[in-house]
Amino acid sequence: MEVTLKIFRYNPETDKKPSYKSYKLDANEMDRVLDLLEKVKGYQDGTLSFRRSCAHGICGSDAMRINGMNRLACKTLIRDVGTRVTVEPILGLPVLKDLIVDMEPFFDNFRSVKPWFITADPEPEKERYQSPEARARFDDTTKCILCACCTTSCPSFWGSEKYVGPAAIVAAHRFIFDDRDQAAAERLQILNEATGVHRCHTIFNCTMACPREIQITKAIGEVKMAISTGILD
Ligand code: SF4
Ligand code: F3S
Ligand code: FES
Repeated sequence: MEVTLKIFRYNPETDKKPSYKSYKLDANEMDRVLDLLEKVKGYQDGTLSFRRSCAHGICGSDAMRINGMNRLACKTLIRDVGTRVTVEPILGLPVLKDLIVDMEPFFDNFRSVKPWFITADPEPEKERYQSPEARARFDDTTKCILCACCTTSCPSFWGSEKYVGPAAIVAAHRFIFDDRDQAAAERLQILNEATGVHRCHTIFNCTMACPREIQITKAIGEVKMAISTGILD
């Protein structure tokens, strides 16, 4: 079958404004959008720029807007998006070139919630034990691959890049509800500020966009509840 990829093109160093360029390709319905981007770059236009690494939905580097929805190009089959496919960079972050955005503001937000294990307890001789029930409490939010599909589909984030965004809250949730960690109060205080969870208006785009099917809006609700009640259930 013939597939037309209409791709956002922009080089801020040489172009006055962005434009779209169309490429026709011979494809199979089981090809992924990433396969076709590779074909364009390899055989039609070597100047096309996009990020990718693992090609198997693990590294999170190839998030882009495909027919208006945030997806990983390596997990999106032509069968599911049709033969006319529009590919654009994710929204809300500066475009560096074509489909590549500057991820630093996203990672700044991620780092701001202290997404690492914090404890004052002395180093144990063996591992820190945890019951299966306690581990299950934050199982869902351990699955994040930091692709940014959620944060860059959130209208509250588009409205203000000062909002830490759903990915940062997911990262905080993973540690807030880990009973071995001792910095939950510190993280809840950070997320109670004007840049935190109160900017979430339960729009759910984040949950719809997550390639790991993390229940993001639910996790945000749990963090909001912990802030308002002071209870980590
Ligand atoms: Fe990507 Fe989901 Fe993590 Fe958001 S929560 S960064 S959409 S994996
Ligand atoms: Fe945004 Fe998701 Fe909340 S889309 S408003 S973070 S539910
Ligand atoms: Fe790694 Fe798609 S290239 S997730």
